[in-house]
Formats: sequence, C-alpha cells, structure tokens
Amino acid sequence: MCGIFGIVTAQEQNLGPILIEAARRLTYRGYDSVGAATISGAKIDLRKDTGRVDDVAARHGLAEMSGSRGITQLRWATFGAPSQVNAQPHLDSDGDMVGAHNGNVVNNVELREQFLAEGMTVRSHNDGESCVHATERYINRGMDFIEAIRGAHADLQGDYAFVIGKINDDKLYAIKKGSGLVVGIGEGFTCVSSDLPSILPLTRKVLRIQDGEIITLWADRVELHSVKDGSLIQREPEQIVETMEAVQKGGFAHFMLKEIHDQPQVAREVMHMLAGSSDVQTVIEKIRAARHVYFIGCGTSYHACLAGAVYFAQVVGKAVIPVLAPQFIPQYLPAVGSEDVGLFVSQSGETKDVLNALQSAEARGMTCFGLANVIGSTLTKATSCWLPLCCGYEISVPATKTFTNQVVTFLYLAYRLGGRDVRELDAIPALMEQTIRSTAPQVEALVEAVNRWQDLYCLGYGATYPMALEGALKLKEITYAHCEGMLSTEFKHGPLSAVTAGLPILFATGPDDVPVIISGINEVTCRGGRAIAIGQEDARLRANASDLITLPKAEAEISSLLAVLPLQLLSYHMAVARGYDPDFPRNLSKTLTVD
Ligand code: G6P
Repeated sequence: MCGIFGIVTAQEQNLGPILIEAARRLTYRGYDSVGAATISGAKIDLRKDTGRVDDVAARHGLAEMSGSRGITQLRWATFGAPSQVNAQPHLDSDGDMVGAHNGNVVNNVELREQFLAEGMTVRSHNDGESCVHATERYINRGMDFIEAIRGAHADLQGDYAFVIGKINDDKLYAIKKGSGLVVGIGEGFTCVSSDLPSILPLTRKVLRIQDGEIITLWADRVELHSVKDGSLIQREPEQIVETMEAVQKGGFAHFMLKEIHDQPQVAREVMHMLAGSSDVQTVIEKIRAARHVYFIGCGTSYHACLAGAVYFAQVVGKAVIPVLAPQFIPQYLPAVGSEDVGLFVSQSGETKDVLNALQSAEARGMTCFGLANVIGSTLTKATSCWLPLCCGYEISVPATKTFTNQVVTFLYLAYRLGGRDVRELDAIPALMEQTIRSTAPQVEALVEAVNRWQDLYCLGYGATYPMALEGALKLKEITYAHCEGMLSTEFKHGPLSAVTAGLPILFATGPDDVPVIISGINEVTCRGGRAIAIGQEDARLRANASDLITLPKAEAEISSLLAVLPLQLLSYHMAVARGYDPDFPRNLSKTLTVD
C-alpha cells in the first residue's frame, strides 16, 4: 500500500524523530521496508532497509538525521522484491535529488529501460525510482520543477503520488495522481503525507489535494499548480476538528463501513500488484502441473476458497478441492503428497487451524503457497511463495475488503491459468463503486422489515453460493441473528418447512442462474415467504421475487462477486439498527490463534 511523508522546516533541525513518528503513523497501511532522507544544504542523508519502522530506525540511526527538509516512506513491495536497494526514498543519477512515491507506476519496466538508455543511473527495480528519474529527465533539459513534474506526469502511467526535493534549495515538491495526498501547514513548517494520521499530531490546518495538482512546499507557505496547464490554484486551508479516531474512520461511522467503501480501491491495487508479480507465475505453473489442488482456509477466507474453486472449474476447467482448514487433516492428509499443491488463505496469516494444516501438508511434501493480508505474519514466513492481498489494515472484525480481494485474486489466477484476458477484470473496481452506490439505498429500505426476524436464510447457486455463505456469516457475526447460508436448491430439502408468512429469504443470483433461482423463489413465495433477490435487472426476477436489489450489468463471474456487497451493507445496517457495534462483535476475535 505504501505511504509517504515529507516536511520542510524554517531551520536546520533534528528531523529524525519527526520522520520516525510519521512513519509509525503510516504503518496501518501495511509495509515491508522503511526509509528516510534529509536534505541539509548540499548534502542528502539517505537511510533505508527492509523491516519494521522501529527496527530500521534502530539499525540505521534514523533518529539522529537532521536537515531542513525530510522525507520518509513505507514501502509494500510490488515492483522489485523487498530489499534495501528497492526500499525508498531514491536518489537521482548524480545524487542531488531525492524522492519517494506511493502507488503503482504500471509502465515502470519500459521507463527503466528508457532511463538506462538515456544514460541515467538506475539503482533499483522499484517504480518509486522511476518517479525521480522521470523528473530528473526534464530537470536535465533545463526545466524548473513545476515543468519537470508536468513532464514526468505525462510519462508515468498508473495511480501514484510522489514527493521530491533537491540540494541547495528550500522547497519540496509533490504531485497527486490517483493516490491520497494531504498537506499540513504548521508554525514554521509545512508537510505533505499520504494520509491525515501522520499530519494531525503536528498541525490541524490542512489542504486536501486533488488529482492533477502539483504542490510546492516552503517552510512558511505552499503553492498549488495544475498539472494540466501549470496554472496557479487557489485553495483555503481547512481546520480539522474531528478526533484522530474519527479521522482514521475516514468520515464513516464505523471501520466496517469505511472498509466496505475501500473495496474498489484495494481491488485496483491488488490487480496492479498481481500484474507485476513474478510469484503469480510460479503459483500458476505449479497449479497447472499439480495432480490435486487444494484451497484451504477458515471462516470468510474459506468462502473465498469456495468461490475460487467455482471460478477454476468454470474459467479454467480445472477441478480444485476447497476445504475448511481443520477438516484438511482428517479428510485429505492421508491422500496428499508431493504432486499436490495447496493454497493456504488467511487474512491475518495467523489462524491456528490454517497453520496446523500447512504444517502437516508440508511434512507430506505438498507444495504450499500462501494468500495473506498481513505481511510478516506466520503464514507469509512459513511459505516460500505467497501473494499479498494489498488491503492495508482491516480493523473491523468482520472481514470485508480482504474477502473481496481474496476473490479478486482467485479470479485473476483463474483468468491467467485459463488464458483469458485479465484486462476484462479491470472493470471490477468501477463496478464495485457503482454497486455500493446503487444498492446502499435499496438495502437501507429493507433493513426494518428484515430486522424483525431472528432466523434468516441467504441462498445462492453456482458462483453466488459462496457469496450467500459469506453474506450469512456477516449477518450472524454482527447482528447476532441466526442466518443460514445455503445452496438455493437445497432449501426445499428441509428448511422449506420453516417458511411462514413474511419470512425474508435472500437469493443471490448470477445472470445465467436466474431460471434455477426463480424455482427457489416460487417455492418460498407460494408459502407466504418474502423472497429478496439480489441480481442484475431481469424481468423474470422482477415478476417473481418480492423485492429485487439490482446489481449493475457485468460478466457472470464479476457479477457473483458484486452480489456480496449489498449483503455486507445489509448486515452492517441491521447491526447498527439493533444498536450493536459492527466493528467489534461480542465473543469474536479478528485473529484466532487457538485450536
Ligand atoms: C476468525 C474471524 C473471521 C475470519 C476467520 C479466519 O474467526 O473472526 O472473521 O474469517 O478467523 O481468519 P483469517 O485471518 O485466517 O482469514
């Protein structure tokens, strides 16, 4: 996810402690490397390494760094492995400029070749270094910083923000394109950061930066220019009055709601990461050659495994065995060996049931891969090859964005393995945004009616079956109502007897499964039940269901993923209406490290 912070002060001073504290406050975004640079007159002091903020600070004496300008960066590896040379900030060719970025420069590989051909010194494989050289390229042609950054902006493709400074100057410069950026204005200093938590302890006077704006920071003022035509932009600073906690919630009432809204952006980030990762190829090759493939997880992560198995069968024609981690040992362990591959899925990377299964599988020689959100967790250390979910911290106990990114990763792997064009998946983030926006009012209109019941059912079929299970789990976790997730066609084999007048039953459906879902809907409605369908606009659903929560038009695979979003919103609003805190449900823990 990465995070950047830069500060300009009126006098030379010991900037190390300020940079370390700012870096600590960016750690919630997830990272594997830390770096800091200070500029003092004609000298740049650059110190960086892989590891935790406090470890890197102690190892490299970051606390003693001083200057009148400073930059710190937390890196989460996408382009280039986590290493000291790939850590940020980066120097330009002759070492008189230093800069760092947050985001993804997707044409990094091509740019790197160009910079080398132009005779520049390129030290790393990291795309943050490309932001520095892209600026250097135009400074070398005699342009000033604003013009040079405008040139860099034209060359750098992707979503990013970067901050950069030069020796013998009194300013820092920054630009925002797609990634977050906020400016802080204090007494005798100005600063710029990916996010507010690193600014607020220093000052509450801030300027929110828009995409396409270049910022020049002096110690006593800032200037904004448009990247489009270089014109000056006027904006008054605002005073932040909210508490730090409210700021961390990004203006939402709860972390869960914020994290639901984070989903489009983190989906974008995980797809960028997957496109640039060499580990993806390793995972795909091993899966292709495997005798049996197992997707293993617990709770929400298991539901993602189930969805992954559906996509692998539908898109690749490859059968995969999805399995609850604790059941892996008694049911499958005697059958697995070195010809098999296991993908162990865990948001926290610490779930004991998953780690137990991993340990036993490794002992039998199975090839084991990880899919985890928390970098540095036991799962990421115990597997030689693992893929990050790129969600940043998920604070709310009920998983939302980590679930959808698990599903997006499975879809991506299936498309790659099946030889389908992964660019089709680029539509996902915008479709997620549209789904959240359009289904939120439809869901809210149903909350009161559904909330009268303590026993609910959430049904799906094919690729929406795992989404129904996940929707039911969300409801159980935070509303404390009972909700059973089921295959829609199984409902008639027993639970149908529970239907009474008005009982709400949720039906998630993909566009190709409407006929089979309609049979289920009618079995319920003819007995007085209230069938709430979640699917794309369809005359058959309109005619048969009691209510239809409409999803935007999308390919069947993507549509199944979208179906979980209104279910997340429904459980959230039901929990809040019941007076419960959805972020911290009773009896539950985000990470279960016990058997
Ligand atoms: C706990 C959490 C669930 C989560 C499960 C698996 O039970 O309460 O929300 O789905 O663990 O967690 P993991 O970190 O392995 O994905």
